[in-house]
Amino acid sequence: MNDPTVCFIVENKRDFLPLLLLGDERESDIAQYLERGDLFALYDGDLKSVCVVTDEGGGVLEIQNLATDIRYQRQGYASRLVGHVANHYAGRYDKIILGTGDVPGILSFYEKCGFSITHKIADYFTEHFDYPIIEDGIILKDKVYLEMIIGSKNRTNMRGETCNT
Ligand SMILES: CC(C)(COP(=O)(O)OP(=O)(O)OC[C@H]1O[C@@H](n2cnc3c(N)ncnc32)[C@H](O)[C@@H]1OP(=O)(O)O)[C@@H](O)C(=O)NCCC(=O)NCCS
Repeated sequence: MNDPTVCFIVENKRDFLPLLLLGDERESDIAQYLERGDLFALYDGDLKSVCVVTDEGGGVLEIQNLATDIRYQRQGYASRLVGHVANHYAGRYDKIILGTGDVPGILSFYEKCGFSITHKIADYFTEHFDYPIIEDGIILKDKVYLEMIIGSKNRTNMRGETCNT
């Protein structure tokens, strides 16, 4: 990895839909949070990962979407982006939460990033989608919630800037 940069995207957020659709199945669901959410894009040369975070009130942030371009997965990009995002909000919010499928690879990714499982919603995916959602060869059923307490600000080794697309 050379010198990754995280851009805080304020305009033309829909340009990132191709990658956002990797993290969330339906464009209609993405539309519910994209404009009110903060969109971070990690570039290392070209675009590698995206993350959308919403303010849920009471000091709680929620990761609504996180995805790394399939060609660049398992190279540390999403975990570095999550670290940058946590640092961005540190000192101003208490915790970051998220809900995801009960998929061992995804859960171990988030646990490696510092998240812990809080609870599960049984049958969430089977009840909210009229077709099977398959992730890592697993048909999603329950939704798993995780949280990470944000401490004080650490030094980040990635540049962060507001970017126009
Ligand atoms: C989940 C996702 C964002 C991870 O992105 P990434 O850039 O590949 O993640 P990283 O390279 O930073 O992974 C860091 C560590 O997490 C763990 N990890 C990541 N993906 C994993 C997987 N599929 N299976 C098992 N462990 C995994 C590994 O320990 C990895 O370190 P290692 O490669 O040195 O073993 C990516 O796989 C993705 O975009 N998936 C599709 C969308 C999605 O499911 N998003 C999450 C739900 S919102």
